[in-house]
Amino acid sequence: MSIQPARLLGALRADRAVSGSELAARLGVTRAAVWKQVRNLRALGAPVDAVAGQGYKLAWPFAALDAEAIRARLDPVLRRRLGNVAVHWQIDSTNSDLRRAADAGVPDLAVSLAEMQTAGRGRRGRTWVSPLGANVYLSLLKRFERGMGTLAGLSLAAGVALAQALEDCGAGGLGLKWPNDVVVEGRKLAGILVEAGGEFLGPCFAVIGIGINLRLPAAAGIGQPATDLARVCGAAMPDRHHVVACLLTRLVSTLDRFAVEGFAPFAGLYAACDALAGKPVRVHSGRGVYDGIADGVDARGALRVRCGTVVATHDSAEVSVRERGA
Ligand code: BTN
Repeated sequence: MSIQPARLLGALRADRAVSGSELAARLGVTRAAVWKQVRNLRALGAPVDAVAGQGYKLAWPFAALDAEAIRARLDPVLRRRLGNVAVHWQIDSTNSDLRRAADAGVPDLAVSLAEMQTAGRGRRGRTWVSPLGANVYLSLLKRFERGMGTLAGLSLAAGVALAQALEDCGAGGLGLKWPNDVVVEGRKLAGILVEAGGEFLGPCFAVIGIGINLRLPAAAGIGQPATDLARVCGAAMPDRHHVVACLLTRLVSTLDRFAVEGFAPFAGLYAACDALAGKPVRVHSGRGVYDGIADGVDARGALRVRCGTVVATHDSAEVSVRERGA
C-alpha cells in the first residue's frame, strides 16, 4: 500500500528523527513504502534528512498550509470579504488556477495557494522554481470595473504591498527592483506576476501571483542571485500562515485603494524602496540593448532611464533591466 506524500510529511519532525518502523506503524504501510515515499518527497524538494541508525528528520518544521489557520489570522472585516481560499498540495500554477476560475466567474478576492507548483511561471516567460512545502506560492483574484486601461502601475503597487507585508513579518533591508522584485542586498527574495483579462474599457480582472522564498533548498536551481526569509529574519523566522495573512492584509488594502486612485498614491512609497534609483543599468528591449542611469518611475509606473540629457520611459512588459556591475 502507498502513502500520500502529505501524510508522510505531516508525520516527520524537525526536533527528532522518526524511525522507518515507527512511521510505517503510524501510517499503516510497510517500511519499504515509507522509504519509497521519502525518496519521492526528496525529489520534490522536501528537506528530509536520513539520521544514521535513527530514521528520518526534517531540516526545518513543516506545517501544511491550512485555509482556516490563515483566515483565523485575518482582521474580521477582511475575513468576511475574502473569497474562497483554496490550498492545493500540487498544482500547475496558482496564477493559471485563478485565471481559469476568473473565466468561470468566481467572486472577487479568491485566493489560490499551493505547497508546490509543477509549472510555476515568472515574468517574461520564465519558470518560477517551486519546490515542495518550503515557500509561499499565492495568487489573488481582483476584479475591476473600469477596464484594463486603468491597471497601469498595478504590478508596482503590488510590489509595495509585498514589501510592506514582508516588513510586517520582521524582514529588514528590503528594496524593490523595478518593476516589482523584492530584493535584499541585490538578491531576490520575492517576485510578482500580474496577469490581466477582460475588457479594455469595461469589467476586467487581475490575477496577482506572488512567490516568496522562505527556505530555499541548497540546489534550488534558480538562475539568479536569490535569498530567503529564513536568512533575512534569522531566529525570528515567522510561520507561513502569518506570512500569508500579512500578505493578504497588505495586498487587499492596496488593491482597494488602487481601484479608486490608481498608482499615484503609491509613487512616493515606491520611490522610498526603489533599489535601482540613481544606479547604472543596462536595458534590454526588443530594439536592442543600451546603458543609462535609472531615474525612478513615472506616474504610470514606467521606468525612467536617463542617458545623457535624454530620459526614456519603459513599460514592464517591454524591457528587462539589470543593474550594471551588480
Ligand atoms: C517573477 O519574479 O518572475 C514573478 C514570479 C511570480 C511567481 C508566483 S508563485 C505564485 C504564482 N503562480 C505562478 O505561476 N507564478 C506566481
